[in-house]
Amino acid sequence: MILKKFKLKNRYLSNRIIASPMCQYSAVNGLPNEWHYMHYTKLISTGVSMLIFESTAINSNGRITHKDLVLSNNKQLNSFKKIVNHLKSLKNIPIGIQLSHSGRKGSSEIPWIKHNTPLRKKKWITYAPSSIKRDKKWPLPKKLSLKGIKNIKKDFINSAILSKKAGFDCVEVHMAHGYLLHQFLSPVANKRNDSYGGNLKNRMNLPLQIIKGIKSRCKGMIIGARITGSDRVKGGIEIDESIKLIKELEKLKIDYVCVSSGGIYPITDLKIKKGYNVDLAERIKKSTKINIRVSGKIEDLNYGKKIINKKKTDLVAIGRSLISNPNLIYNEDSKFIPKQYLRAFK
Ligand SMILES: Cc1cc2nc3c(=O)[nH]c(=O)nc-3n(C[C@H](O)[C@H](O)[C@H](O)COP(=O)(O)O)c2cc1C
Repeated sequence: MILKKFKLKNRYLSNRIIASPMCQYSAVNGLPNEWHYMHYTKLISTGVSMLIFESTAINSNGRITHKDLVLSNNKQLNSFKKIVNHLKSLKNIPIGIQLSHSGRKGSSEIPWIKHNTPLRKKKWITYAPSSIKRDKKWPLPKKLSLKGIKNIKKDFINSAILSKKAGFDCVEVHMAHGYLLHQFLSPVANKRNDSYGGNLKNRMNLPLQIIKGIKSRCKGMIIGARITGSDRVKGGIEIDESIKLIKELEKLKIDYVCVSSGGIYPITDLKIKKGYNVDLAERIKKSTKINIRVSGKIEDLNYGKKIINKKKTDLVAIGRSLISNPNLIYNEDSKFIPKQYLRAFK
C-alpha cells in the first residue's frame, strides 16, 4: 500500500510518503536562498509524492529564529515563486508550505548554536494567548489583545494567499509543537477569559477562524493542519480534545491532518522511539474520516507499510531519514528512480 497512489483533494499522489517540514534556519530577511534550492531539490528527488516546505512565518514577529523563512510581502513572494518554479520544473508533485507563528517560542537561538534557548542579544518581544512563560528560562510573552489576534488572523490569510500566488499547491497550518496556535489550543498556555480562551470551543476559535479564512480565499488549494494528538503533559491537551478539534476541522472540509505531539514545554513526557505518534494517529483515524498523516521515527518503509496496511494512518511524513538515507524510496521500488540514475542501481 505504501507505494500505491492516493487521492488528496484534486491530486493523485504517486505513493504515501511525504517529505516532512524541516526548518533550515538558513534564510536571510525571510528569503529562500541557495541552501533552500539545494535542500528542496534533494528532497524532491527522493521519490516522495509530496513535499512540504519548512515552517514559514506569517510575519517577522512570528519567526522562531532570525533565520526563518517569512512569507508576508511581495519581495518574499517573488523569491518563493522562483524556488517553486524551479522545483516544479524538476518534478510535478504537489508542493506545500507550512505556515506558522512562533508565539512565545519565538526569539530563539538557532538550534545548532544553542538548542532550545531564547536569544539574549538581538531579541524581540514575543506574544502569546496569555502572559505565561514557556518555562522559567524563557522570557515572559505579552498577552495578545483582541486587535492583535485579528492581525494574526489577517497575516495567516495573507500568507496563504501569497503561497497560492507563489505556486504552492498546499497550505499546512501549524497548530502543534508549542507554537502560537498550539498555545491557543492548550489549556496550559491559554488562560484567557474572553472568546479565545477557557473551554475548548473558545480555545479552538482562532485556529478554526484561520482555517475558515484560508479556505474561503485559497479555493482549489489542498489545506492541511499539523496538530497535536497529545501535549503529553499534566493538564494539557489529551487525545479526546484533539479528536474534537479534528472533527471541527473536518466540518471545515480540510484535506488532511498530520498527527504530532509534545512541544508545549521544552520538556514533556514524549519519548522519542519508533513511530512515537502512531498510537495517537490510530485513535484519531478510528474516530474521524479525515485523511491522516503521521510522522515520528518512521525510518524503514516496512514499518511504514505495516501502519498503512493496518489502517493506522493514510500517509506517512518522513523527515530525518530522507536526509540521512536519501535512497530509501529508490531501494524500495526502482520505478521512483529517475531514468538518468537507473544505471547506478543495477
Ligand atoms: C531539523 C528539523 C527541523 C524541523 N522543522 C519542522 C518544521 O519546520 N515544522 C514541523 O512541523 N516540524 C518540524 N520538524 C519535525 C519533523 O517534521 C518531523 O515531524 C520529526 O522530525 C519526526 O519525523 P522524523 O523522525 O521522520 O524526522 C523538524 C525536525 C527536524 C529534525
